[in-house]
Amino acid sequence: MKSIASAPGKIILFGEHFVVYGMKAVLCSIDKRITATSQFIDEKVIRVRSSLGESEISIDSSNNLEKVQQKFMKPFFYIAQKAVKENSIKNGIELVLESEIPPGVGLGSSSAACVAATASVNGLFCKLSKNEVVKIAVQAERTIFEQNSGADSSVSTFGGLVSYDLKNGFENISSRNDLSFIISNSAQVHNTQDVVRQVKNFKEKNDELFNKLCKLEIDIVDDAMLSLKDNDLNKLGSLMLKNHDLLKQIGISTEKIDLLVQEAKKTAYGAKITGAGGGGCIISLIDDSNSEDTLNNLRKISDCFVTKIDYSGLRYS
Ligand code: PMV
Repeated sequence: MKSIASAPGKIILFGEHFVVYGMKAVLCSIDKRITATSQFIDEKVIRVRSSLGESEISIDSSNNLEKVQQKFMKPFFYIAQKAVKENSIKNGIELVLESEIPPGVGLGSSSAACVAATASVNGLFCKLSKNEVVKIAVQAERTIFEQNSGADSSVSTFGGLVSYDLKNGFENISSRNDLSFIISNSAQVHNTQDVVRQVKNFKEKNDELFNKLCKLEIDIVDDAMLSLKDNDLNKLGSLMLKNHDLLKQIGISTEKIDLLVQEAKKTAYGAKITGAGGGGCIISLIDDSNSEDTLNNLRKISDCFVTKIDYSGLRYS
């Protein structure tokens, strides 16, 4: 018996980094997924396979995640070990992850993998609700990224376009916008934790400036919520450029990222970093009128693809 589940990646439209300090962010899941397939195996091991590598630990060595050599694999062993313990099984589990989402560039691939893996592994015993999945997925991700806000896993599980802040959690944005974006990959792999730490240092050294930027971010997000309601692409695009400028000021852009944004804004409604920055991807807001021109332009200097909002979130197959 195989248990299969898939979960989407995400982009942050507005508010990354500022969300860590209590501001509101706007994010959505995208139509690129990670699929997790689990099955029981005779060997008494937990085996995880993905395009990034293969690793296994004995089911008897429970609790010892330190034995896992490749750090990015830890959450999957956490998920499988928890399921093995709770269901006291005698045989092992193999988990295979297949991804359409480029890793390490701010598109939520690790959260999507944790969500899909949690649903898939537990589906071998009893299908979990989305609320149960997201709880375990966040715990799993915290084995490698303690300060994780949980935003990525939640949007991956429930799908759609949402706002999020630390105090109030998630709120669905009810206007069902059919927005399209081009995602351009700078090919500079970032480490979210390092970039978050870098911003913390920036804040400590420039407290007054950071507070000023937080206020500007609040205005941008408020305006963005109204523009989403009106589906005003021109306004949304210009707010994205403003948001990019704030991210530049806190020091998380790179020369390559700025070049991509410069090129994108020649034809797109707007463009900005998405996610932690320090490399990673930019998003450009487009529609049918400017999609081809923007793609042609950006393809000369980056790998890119068109994406839309995914409204389904976690899916069992
Ligand atoms: O690299 P990403 O897309 O996972 O970016 C994380 C977003 C931050 O706001 C920088 C951190 C967070 O936990 O919200």
